[in-house]
Amino acid sequence: MKLFKILLLFITLQISAQQGGMWIPSLLKGMNEEEMQSLGSKLSAKDIYDINNSSLKDAIGHFNGGCTSEVISPKGLLLTNHHCGFSQIQSHSSLENDYLKDGFWAMSLEEELPNEGLYVEFIVSIHDVTKPVLEGVTDEMTENEKQSKRDKNSNEIEKNWSKEVWQNTKIKSFYKGNQYFLFVTERFEDIRLVGAPPTSIGKFGSDTDNWVFPRHTGDFSIFRIYANTENRPAKYSKDNVPYTPKHFLPISLDGVEEGDFTLVFGFPGKTNEYLPAVAIEQITQKYNPSNIKIREAALKVIDAKMKESDKVRIQYASKQARIANSWKKWIGENLGIQKSNAIANKRAFEEKFTKSLNTKALQDAYGDILPEFERLYKEFEDVNVKRRNFIETFIINNELMHMMFRLAQLENTASQSEEAFNKAKMGMISRLKGIHKNYDVTVDKGVFENIMPLYTKNVDVSIYENTNFIDLDKALSMLEGDSDEILKKLNADVAYQYAKPFIEEFYTKMNPEYNRINTQISAVQGKYMKALMEVMPNQRYYPDANGTLRVTYGQVKGYAPRDAVYYNPVSYLEGVMEKYIPGDYEFDVPQKLQELYKAKDYGQYADANGKLPICFLGTNHTTGGNSGSPAIDAHGNLVGLNFDRVWEGTMSDYNYDAELCRNIMVDLRYILFIIDKYAGATHLIDEMKLVHPKSNKRQ
Ligand code: ARG
Ligand code: GLU
Repeated sequence: MKLFKILLLFITLQISAQQGGMWIPSLLKGMNEEEMQSLGSKLSAKDIYDINNSSLKDAIGHFNGGCTSEVISPKGLLLTNHHCGFSQIQSHSSLENDYLKDGFWAMSLEEELPNEGLYVEFIVSIHDVTKPVLEGVTDEMTENEKQSKRDKNSNEIEKNWSKEVWQNTKIKSFYKGNQYFLFVTERFEDIRLVGAPPTSIGKFGSDTDNWVFPRHTGDFSIFRIYANTENRPAKYSKDNVPYTPKHFLPISLDGVEEGDFTLVFGFPGKTNEYLPAVAIEQITQKYNPSNIKIREAALKVIDAKMKESDKVRIQYASKQARIANSWKKWIGENLGIQKSNAIANKRAFEEKFTKSLNTKALQDAYGDILPEFERLYKEFEDVNVKRRNFIETFIINNELMHMMFRLAQLENTASQSEEAFNKAKMGMISRLKGIHKNYDVTVDKGVFENIMPLYTKNVDVSIYENTNFIDLDKALSMLEGDSDEILKKLNADVAYQYAKPFIEEFYTKMNPEYNRINTQISAVQGKYMKALMEVMPNQRYYPDANGTLRVTYGQVKGYAPRDAVYYNPVSYLEGVMEKYIPGDYEFDVPQKLQELYKAKDYGQYADANGKLPICFLGTNHTTGGNSGSPAIDAHGNLVGLNFDRVWEGTMSDYNYDAELCRNIMVDLRYILFIIDKYAGATHLIDEMKLVHPKSNKRQ
């Protein structure tokens, strides 16, 4: 008996030492189910994913293709992050109705605000289609031939899959092209804004606190899914009604404590866990640093101008957040890779792999993989960095150059047909309107001055004096007439003349060269994945994130980022007050929240210690796209809302390390407290199902 206990303890320790992984929800039976239960979960694989009955997965929606959201009431109420709903909140805001600054609360269904283009997608079912996708793909084919065969097969399968008329299908590749899954999905397109806290709560701490702990942000916003009268997905209509979901998440008022099991369910975007050391080296030593430098130069201008003017602050809020977010993430990523010795560890692992190849007599089959990686990444380096610099400069950071980039694409369509040109022209017109809605030429010119010298010696700021594209009316008049006329005017514009040679170089040299090498790298990477699973079958293999629904799980846990520093896993309202700087753009605290704090008026939302919990940490393996993902307790109740990772842990996209990697969640009790006590939107609380799983057990 004693021996058995020791053995059990040993196994549990082994398991909790590993962790990490973003698992496919339909394949949890077996290893994952057992591992979750050993961590304290009471859920079965079927509670999480079931095709025939409603299950947790039915409450999880892909929010606008980028974030995650979850249904939290029988009337389609949807929870996601403030930063995920940010551009919707911004688009309803003006100087008079500043919902960014003041927050927004619909006090009735009629006040809920529609959002054009916003959609939420649910997964109906998941199917392994590896065999039919790879049918007819042979070793003799070139990489391009293989790709087009797989694409052709996939299209056929997607088209012929049996499903309801309002559903869609899509196939995605897993394990670097070694496995394929088909997803049946449902997309809702009438999604209305219901509530958002002020930025001083929803984005409290802003960039200074972004990607770090301790954290005190109430990063949430609330939407509602509307469906047609048959409860099916439909475009916006005033006749639509609140959606009745197959499942919605009850919310636990008992919260979590260190060691508690959590499961995070969502749509992680992209990870690369099986890269060779040489790739990680390139990313951390060349690729990240040059991107960081460009964004730093752009942010210097944008940040300063946003502080000077409220108008610019609102116009550039969303753009600035996007630019700053990856900028800071890349810095943390490099830090974590260094701290965890990731490159040396990968090298050591690769030696082990090579040794195993020898012992298993697989040298002939797989011995070329690592040398091929070395050769290809060397060849890749220049073009990989240069191409990314182009994207940073001409697409992401400078808006005038971005317009030129899109205009060059428009010019290209002219050679197809007048019809294609006209269609692209309409797209361009709405794009120009979109850009100019939030455009300030002094900001953009400043960005140009700061970042262009990092890209080229040929910097000409005078184009801002004479181009027609910094003014919307003039820009639109440039697009009047037939293609001949338009292209003539366009090619006479100084900004276009300036940008065109760079854009041509991108399309004729950089991009083809990048694609040529990248295709080869992907092929080797596919072979490496296959080899790893064959040669070292006892390792922990989970497919890289690819924007599909995944389950990740772990425990509430603090961490030690540096010598003698340890972070507790839970933060409290006290910490908000500690950080409070009156009038500061990052650390101001709304008057009402201060009053609630002074009165300790936390209602049913306080922790057992009487304090109001704000955020907590877990060992769940998450990435971009997991924003807005529910953190679910051992019984299937909502306890947290994922929104970030700790700085050193952002390297988990390449190298998950259970010591250093933590995801950050908002405690659901803080969210409810803000809705209820701060905003007085008690009608929303009434819709939800609040539960007490722990106190019930204690009774
Ligand atoms: N770092 C988080 C994520 O990657 C939060 C970003 C939004 N918050 C912010 N302060 N910019 O999306
Ligand atoms: N904030 C991220 C997002 O928007 C999630 C944090 C992360 O990358 O882990 O998805």
